[in-house]
Amino acid sequence: MDQKKTYYITTPIYYPSGNMTIGHTYTTVAADTMTRFKKMQGYDTYFLTGTDEHGQKIEKKAAEAGVTPIQYVDKIVAETKDLWKLMNIEYDDFIRTTEDRHMKIVQKIFRQFYDQGDIYKAEYEGMYCTPCESFWTPTQLVDKDGQKVCPDCGRPCQPMKEESYFFRMSKYQDWMIDYIETHPEFIQPAKRANEMINNFLKPGLQDLCVSRTSVKWGIPVDFDPKHTVYVWIDALSNYITALGYGTDHDELFQKYWPADVHLVGKEIVRFHTIYWPIMLHALGLPLPKQVFGHGWLLFGADRMSKSKGNVVYPEPIVARYGVDALRYYLMREMPFGSDGNYTNESFLTRMNADLANDLGNLVSRAVAMIEKYFDGKVPAWTDAAVDEAVDNPLREHCAALPALAEEQMDKLQFSQALAEIWKVIGECNKYIDVTQPWVLGKDPEKKDRLGNVLYNLAECVRFVAVLIGPVMPHTPIRIFEQLGVTDDALKSWDSLASFGKLPAGTQVKKGEALFPRIDVKKELEILSGGDKKEEKAEAKQEKKEQKAEKKEKKKEEIPEGCIGFGDFEKVKMRVARVLECERVEKSEKLLKFRLSLGNEERTVLSGIAKFHNPEDLIGKKLVLLANLAPRKIMGIESQGMLLSAVAQNDDGTETLRLLTADPIMPDGAEIG
Ligand code: MSP
Repeated sequence: MDQKKTYYITTPIYYPSGNMTIGHTYTTVAADTMTRFKKMQGYDTYFLTGTDEHGQKIEKKAAEAGVTPIQYVDKIVAETKDLWKLMNIEYDDFIRTTEDRHMKIVQKIFRQFYDQGDIYKAEYEGMYCTPCESFWTPTQLVDKDGQKVCPDCGRPCQPMKEESYFFRMSKYQDWMIDYIETHPEFIQPAKRANEMINNFLKPGLQDLCVSRTSVKWGIPVDFDPKHTVYVWIDALSNYITALGYGTDHDELFQKYWPADVHLVGKEIVRFHTIYWPIMLHALGLPLPKQVFGHGWLLFGADRMSKSKGNVVYPEPIVARYGVDALRYYLMREMPFGSDGNYTNESFLTRMNADLANDLGNLVSRAVAMIEKYFDGKVPAWTDAAVDEAVDNPLREHCAALPALAEEQMDKLQFSQALAEIWKVIGECNKYIDVTQPWVLGKDPEKKDRLGNVLYNLAECVRFVAVLIGPVMPHTPIRIFEQLGVTDDALKSWDSLASFGKLPAGTQVKKGEALFPRIDVKKELEILSGGDKKEEKAEAKQEKKEQKAEKKEKKKEEIPEGCIGFGDFEKVKMRVARVLECERVEKSEKLLKFRLSLGNEERTVLSGIAKFHNPEDLIGKKLVLLANLAPRKIMGIESQGMLLSAVAQNDDGTETLRLLTADPIMPDGAEIG
């Protein structure tokens, strides 16, 4: 017997530091949709998701909540699984990085890297806070009374050297560049491959610090247990530990690895297309066939984030409008790979236009007319002689639809695949207007013609119902109920091989509207009513905090020449990575930077052209004063200020260097 082709797809494993948002739901729905599509096509699929549970952030969150880290994550994991159930997500496995099966293998992998010389021990220099047992980079420290103090507890720090393990990433730099260049399908969309090569690989890949002694909530390095494994080494391994890699029971690994695709948000493409492949290569394993970096669901101009307070959660939307409406919107609204804005208005408008009007109307009109003119039995497509010019194009278009949808789905272009399906739905609705079945119904001599028209419509509805299933698993069940299709074979991908498989005589039955039309204005008010309540609560909380701050300020005696903590808090500094840097024309002093803050880019001018070569700065992580009011210099708006250290030399000249941040810090990391 032929072995089925396998298809292994993963989502990132999410941080259970808080509840999952519509953003996490986006990736998970995409993976579920793809799995269902491949399953329908006969693939043996495996869909992995899970949670990334170690690290300082979780440790801190748990402490704030007054529980142990594992108690904290257990609760969020249970809620995450409930959400995936609600969203109709059918994963094959949910891996947690705190599980024994994962931790043991991560330790083994780490040991192997060490034994074969990919990991070495070296000294890491930094400022150390003894009471907190934490290392800080110079930019993380806070100035207090002329001393460098710990940003956590405010106590003085001392220079100290710590032993850390480092991964020899630099050794693999050329191999990695070559791999990406010779495997154009590996990083998708293709523009992300260029970003990786130009911004990270070509400027020079540095060895990566892969252990921490300051983080207790992590996987201990088994041969040196005061160290814990760096969270990304821990997290990335999940894609193989979940399959039993490195154990005696590695059947799943043998069957499914390499993964067909890792779906990830664009901010973590770097980890998946540089560190992860290098780890796999060092283990002698094949690389995933593809890493797809999708865009962000934005809220206004911002990426949703709990700290910005602009988070949308899926539960209330699903409770009011149903899970299929939300799944449809997520997969339809923006091309996979690009950013898009979530607004209640765009969601409600799409629901009305695409679901209530286009799809809902088509199904209810087709079923109602079969009930009215043929006693509820799908008429036979009898007589080609009564066919008219409009018929063949519709039938042919519908017959070609599975291939059109497949082409887009294989590129993970969910939105385009749905657009193809909706073209046929639109054509069906037009077909009804042109053929006017209600006129044909009045003339007994046109019975055969009417039969052909309604058969074509019913069969198109069946095609559509099968094809939307991966995105909207519940809606086809409701359509098949109305269409009277009970035979599973008629609900399958194979049944779309040719047009006309729906048997005449199938008993239809009108049901409730699939998606009732909604009053967008009214619904918007209801939805924002909820927000208003929250806004009020937030405003109250803010007032409370302001009051407390004022009180605090009164207590704080601020000596001449000093600033208070409140003043310092106003200063927002962020880690900024240099994407582009060039001299400003007609200026001797100015360099123009394009900087990445992770979720946004900025243009910043800096008068340091005498001290730095622009080419040397590409890829560097600098310190940006991010909330300085923008100002125009030589017609260019500068959006912030890069910090530098400057010293007067004995000969009257100056030495100046831009401040840099530790390269492990992500773009946009807050400093303070
Ligand atoms: N734990 C790491 C991933 C480790 S994978 C080995 C992590 N976790 S996370 O909780 O921050 O999840 C990030 C992922 O959630 C993104 O890569 C993306 O897939 C998804 N999204 C979260 N918010 C999102 C949006 N607003 N828009 C789109 N996707 C986003 O990073």
